[in-house]
Amino acid sequence: MTDPVPDPGTDVAVYVHWPYCSRICPYCDFNVVRDRGRGEEQAALLGAMLADLEAQAAVTGPRRLASIFFGGGTPSLMAPEAVAAVIERARALFPAAGPVEISLEANPTDAEADRFAALADAGVNRLSMGVQALDDAALAFLGRNHSADEARRAVAVAARAFGRLSIDLIYARPGQTVERWATELTEALDLGFEHVSPYQLTIEPSTAFGRAVARGAWPPPDEETAAILYETTQTVLERAGFEAYEVSNHARGLAARSAHNLHVWRGGDYLGIGPGAHGRLTLGGVRTATIAHRGIGDYVAGVEVAAPWTEREALDLRGTAEERVLLGLRTVEGVLSTDLAALDRFVDSGPLAALVDDGFLTVRAGRVIATATGRPVLDGVLKALLA
Ligand SMILES: C[S@@+](CC[C@H](N)C(=O)[O-])C[C@H]1O[C@@H](n2cnc3c(N)ncnc32)[C@H](O)[C@@H]1O
Ligand code: SF4
Repeated sequence: MTDPVPDPGTDVAVYVHWPYCSRICPYCDFNVVRDRGRGEEQAALLGAMLADLEAQAAVTGPRRLASIFFGGGTPSLMAPEAVAAVIERARALFPAAGPVEISLEANPTDAEADRFAALADAGVNRLSMGVQALDDAALAFLGRNHSADEARRAVAVAARAFGRLSIDLIYARPGQTVERWATELTEALDLGFEHVSPYQLTIEPSTAFGRAVARGAWPPPDEETAAILYETTQTVLERAGFEAYEVSNHARGLAARSAHNLHVWRGGDYLGIGPGAHGRLTLGGVRTATIAHRGIGDYVAGVEVAAPWTEREALDLRGTAEERVLLGLRTVEGVLSTDLAALDRFVDSGPLAALVDDGFLTVRAGRVIATATGRPVLDGVLKALLA
């Protein structure tokens, strides 16, 4: 196996945040705004993103492009020419050594499916589609602007347009039974994709769902039901040949894993481009966190004055190691035991040794990895490990 740690001085991935959505879903707390068709604002945002790429390239110096990920919001609403312009600029600034994974998140509506071929022509080679559910009542509850049939159609179009396809699903919805979820997930498998991200519904306090739960409108699923739904997800997907290479990411074969996400989880450098985007850059040997202004106007104005256009914070060795542990333990690769040693956690003593003894973690070839017992309760494991 090649060294899973990217070279921070060399490889850089690019995350591009497009904040617009046709409709704001009641569970979502991403940095999003309603798309009101403001052409001028969107043109200014695209211009700022291209200038941001240039400005950040001047700071990083020459790097090799590892991957590009268009997230959101809903980047499938971006004009394909705008997507092409971002890809072209990133490729010009950061020459790649070989083929590069370029992913884009899409909503499964007919209108967006009409643009998939143009997005593929623009250079996108992997689509991540937010199917969320294959049950019309559940889609209505989730506030989605598409039906299950529309999602099926969009997946079929995407499968023709892109070499690689992933879908997102949301489970642990109120009232969802294990039987119904197993049936829905099995049905989803018939859609044909190489990668799936099933997310357990989280209730974020700042969202419409957060407010509904706070006033007692409906109860979220209890922990026990959620745990059984998680196990069901693992079983159904494993039987279908999907490996959970991260807690919420399952791929059919090594080549189907998301190169961009792996790069980030392994502690690689990435640029955050767009409103509210986070980045991690190793500058002069120091791991640095960047956060762009969240508001679209603030972001555009910030890039124009470039003083500074993002907030930057140098991470110390402990902060860097802690981040690696939090991300790495979610993956099948785990984390280097030296990263844990940087946090005074050693394999032969203290909380790490206890978690290994209790079967939640295992140590293999200098790496600490969460076991099948540890993964479903990873939040608790991390708490015990890092407290
Ligand atoms: C940036 S969002 C979505 C991209 C696209 N706009 C869409 O909605 O399909 C990425 C994914 O996060 C997941 N997600 C967002 N909020 C969530 C929540 N509160 N609980 C569980 N999953 C959530 C959804 O599955 C979604 O597809
Ligand atoms: S889930 Fe997707 S479409 Fe819905 S508000 Fe969030 S980013 Fe937008």
